[in-house]
Amino acid sequence: MRNIVAGNWKSNKLMVEARELMVAVYKGVSVDGLTDVILAPPAPFLSALVLEAPENKSISWAGQQCSGYEMGAYTGEFTASMLHSIGVCSVLIGHSERRDKFGESEEMVAMKLRSALDSGLTAILCCGENLGERESGGHFTRVMEQLKHALHGVSEKEMEDVVLAYEPIWAIGTGRTASADQAQEMHHAIREFIKENWGEMIAGNTRILYGGSCKPSNAGEIFAQPDVNGGLIGGAALSAADFLAIVDASDQSLRETH
Ligand code: 13P
Repeated sequence: MRNIVAGNWKSNKLMVEARELMVAVYKGVSVDGLTDVILAPPAPFLSALVLEAPENKSISWAGQQCSGYEMGAYTGEFTASMLHSIGVCSVLIGHSERRDKFGESEEMVAMKLRSALDSGLTAILCCGENLGERESGGHFTRVMEQLKHALHGVSEKEMEDVVLAYEPIWAIGTGRTASADQAQEMHHAIREFIKENWGEMIAGNTRILYGGSCKPSNAGEIFAQPDVNGGLIGGAALSAADFLAIVDASDQSLRETH
């Protein structure tokens, strides 16, 4: 199975800088690599970047979020179908910053996931506990609750278009990474949850990414874990050199296990 390394640029860069970053990433990603690279720039740049991007079958584009509603009178919103119509392949759903800073409820996250799948996008569903939940030992319960809500009613066939991203909130943008063991333990629990609900084959085929202060110096160790299938990268995705080094670490980890 191929890994995924996705760069979430969050609310960073102006158009000229975004274009420069895209060009540098495209230059560095081999078409023959073992990793699917996904770029999630700010929404205003997506359409232009998708059109300007050179051909590279290893790289595709993602939205950082989408509306949970269909087209209509929802000022400021953009639908999953709109993203699909400009050549975007996937969308982040339920990122903790959306949940915490913009009040996305479990119900909203589930609506957005449904909308993404119905529009033909791959949904990259984010989950993860906060520091208090981790310290009180409630992290597994929290993550499984998030998955249960968001994935309720998703069919076996639809699970082919779901990627999961475990992003412990205490590790996002803090420089504090989950240890390789902590990541593996949670990824394993997530895979077990998928197995219980959709069976072994789907569990085995679902890619589970780690996110949270992932950088060139720690990516190799994290990607070497058996249940980690790549990463969702924030800060380090804003530098082409760092991001490409993480893509290399992913390729390397796959070569070592084949
Ligand atoms: P950082 O890599 O900056 O910690 O961000 C992770 C993240 O939130 C990716 O979606």
